Amino acid sequence: MIPRVPDEQSDTRNTLPLPLERGDEPYSLLIVDDEVGILESLELTLGDDYRVFTATTGQQGLEILDHEPIALVIADQVLPGMTGVEFLERVIDRNPTAIRMMLTGYADLASIVRAVNEGRIYRYIAKPWDPDSLRLDVRRALETYGLATENVQLAAALRDANERLRAENLYLRREVERRYAFESLIGSSAAMHRVFEVMEKVASTDATVLISGETGTGKDLVARAIHYSGSRKAARFVAQNCGALPDTLLESELFGHKRGAFTGAHEDKKGLFELAHGGAIFLDEIGETNMSMQVRLLRVLQDGEIRSLGASDVRHVDVRVIAATNRDLRKLVTEGRFREDLYYRLRVVEIWIPPLRERREDIPVLAHHFLELATARMGRRIKGFTNAAMDRLVAAEWSGNVRELENEIERVVALAGDADTVTLDMLSEHVRGRPAADEGTSDVELPVFDWDLNRSVDELKRRMIQRALAEAGSKSKASERLGIPRQSLQKMMKRLGMSDTGGE
Ligand SMILES: Nc1ncnc2c1ncn2[C@@H]1O[C@H](COP(=O)(O)OP(=O)(O)OP(=O)(O)O)[C@@H](O)[C@H]1O
Ligand SMILES: [Mg+2]
Repeated sequence: MIPRVPDEQSDTRNTLPLPLERGDEPYSLLIVDDEVGILESLELTLGDDYRVFTATTGQQGLEILDHEPIALVIADQVLPGMTGVEFLERVIDRNPTAIRMMLTGYADLASIVRAVNEGRIYRYIAKPWDPDSLRLDVRRALETYGLATENVQLAAALRDANERLRAENLYLRREVERRYAFESLIGSSAAMHRVFEVMEKVASTDATVLISGETGTGKDLVARAIHYSGSRKAARFVAQNCGALPDTLLESELFGHKRGAFTGAHEDKKGLFELAHGGAIFLDEIGETNMSMQVRLLRVLQDGEIRSLGASDVRHVDVRVIAATNRDLRKLVTEGRFREDLYYRLRVVEIWIPPLRERREDIPVLAHHFLELATARMGRRIKGFTNAAMDRLVAAEWSGNVRELENEIERVVALAGDADTVTLDMLSEHVRGRPAADEGTSDVELPVFDWDLNRSVDELKRRMIQRALAEAGSKSKASERLGIPRQSLQKMMKRLGMSDTGGE
């Protein structure tokens, strides 16, 4: 192997190399030689461009290294007490990035070759040296040094960034857990306390849970809270609304499909059950599933088995199932629209969340909770509600339950301007316009009393329908409120001679 010896620098002899600086600071060099004359002349060659430290012994040199940010070391091959090679080895221990050069008066090639080959010395400088080529050598070496330290700095910055990201991830994960843990669920009513009690009991188990309740009562939130307070919280919680997709798509979403299983299935796809393996799946609006889907679901619940669309083999998954519905599943069972066996498999634990109007004592805490969230988000300073406003909130109908209340408070905050209290007139018209709860039950006046039962009942029906239509705003909502199917409402209106405006 040929040692790296100084290049022929004929082409650069005339150019005076510029010093390489880091920022405004010139680099620091250390020169160690026991001959003071050599130290002086090297200082003369390099002193204009760099900060030069000199030492006459290896020991002195090491002390300087301990205190100065030395970028390059030049050592004589022969030093009192230790050889130049030994000295440079110690330099590596103290400052591994510093560039090391060896100054040699006679060619003990064997030891220099070894040192150069083993990477301990960047290059050797033969005495006597040519000042220009020495400057050039030093400059080149420092360029290498600059790149190396830049690399080290970048690697450190990358490491820092990675650590920060890891920390942020951890923080976000805790944030998600906190957001969906029990604290995010507000409720002081006895009904909600019963809900919390059951939740606490089932969270740590793998039991299937069926959550029922009207729209906006918090089924989603309860499902997430159960998952994120349980032992599976580190694994996935995947949610699928079973009413949102056509049958085949829903099946492929949940169970996956093989390429070519149906038109448009261009590739194999994993289903949510597989993705949720080890974690939980939330089947929202489970009452909307068709019979074939119900059979598949029963199979997962019974045997933990899934089969992708178009696949011949079954696979085992370990997934906790949490289902939700705003329909009366038992009724769907009696109507033959929901499999009874699946119903019983689902409702191992059943949690029913009562509508907000049946737990009005929750309204003030919820209203304050949403007020706090909305003011913080929109940078407002609203402290609370006037009594009249709160009374009205407590008395309102809230057919959309907690979601409707949340939206109402958000709307109020968004339109509050610089108000510092929510007053009655800031509430939206339909909340303000609704009768207070205690007036609500008797707000449909009885028809004129004329002893004709059928006529009076018809008149009462007419008024109730009118009222329901005016308040609910659509026929389907009015029929919901009146507790009859929409078609029956339409028929009844026709029979009662009520004008049909044709709306939904
Ligand atoms: N007890 C509660 N405490 C705090 N926020 C609640 C509570 N219940 C519901 N919410 C909030 O109300 C909104 C509606 O809740 P969620 O989406 O869980 O209802 P849902 O029962 O799943 O409704 P849907 O049947 O329409 O899907 C959400 O923004 C949720 O955060
Ligand atoms: Mg929901």
